[in-house]
Amino acid sequence: MLNKLVNLTKSNKETKDSIELDRSRVPNHIAIIMDGNGRWAKKRGLPRIAGHREGMKVVRKVVKHANELGVHALTLYAFSTENWKRPKPEVEFIMKLPEQFLLTYLPELIKENVQVRTIGQREGIPAYTQKAVNEAIERTKHNSGLVLNFALNYGSRYEITEAVRQLSKDVEKGTIRAEDVNEKLIGSYMMTNDIGDPELLIRTSGEIRLSNFMLWQLAYTELWFTDVYWPDFSKETLEEAILEYQRRGRRFGGV
Ligand code: IPE
Ligand code: IPE
Ligand code: MG
Repeated sequence: MLNKLVNLTKSNKETKDSIELDRSRVPNHIAIIMDGNGRWAKKRGLPRIAGHREGMKVVRKVVKHANELGVHALTLYAFSTENWKRPKPEVEFIMKLPEQFLLTYLPELIKENVQVRTIGQREGIPAYTQKAVNEAIERTKHNSGLVLNFALNYGSRYEITEAVRQLSKDVEKGTIRAEDVNEKLIGSYMMTNDIGDPELLIRTSGEIRLSNFMLWQLAYTELWFTDVYWPDFSKETLEEAILEYQRRGRRFGGV
């Protein structure tokens, strides 16, 4: 009985939120710093890796819902260039997740017309992880639905450094003149060059920082922080973030 009541309240809330959400003004590109897996597990007396495992299941749900809402690109911060500092067993566990995720969900992603991509430094990632990711990219490259972009071994300063290095080489070669360097050109050297900047950034777990994530791309992004740990993130949390985004006045320096 109580369960029924709880479910009823839940579905009423869902209906209400779906009505409030303006489907024509859903952000094109949402980026998420999926944080709090370790604390989620600790709170339950479980090892940190249990939080990462649970977090993987949430990725699936969020991808599905973002796709249904008409989001064009979803960038998920999965592993940072700083995360190598963690204990080796934890790093190894996290590095096995892309393979596990894709083994389980790739058929579903293909069916849902999702296009898988990655940003980040390929060097350093284990061969089996790269293989799984490459296969997913290859098998979904012609899909036209949601772009699911995993930031894997990603660091924004690394990305910017690489962009500058590449750009310098092109200047040296003479294919670009120093006078022609502008924001658009620099943007084209970023790993997100064909996705565009996120309109909305979500960070879970109560931390209010960017942790070396998309520093160039987030210049005018709406930032939304929640105390919810990533494994507890739900459809409703995503809609809450989008609703808040829709309430904000974006001026881009204008009036
Ligand atoms: C996010 O959760 C996952 C990764 C950074 C890989 P954390 O593992 O950072 O969880 P907390 O922040 O320690 O709770
Ligand atoms: C950021 O979370 C990286 C990812 C979510 C992949 P961290 O947990 O690594 O960030 P800090 O240590 O709190 O800055
Ligand atoms: Mg963390």
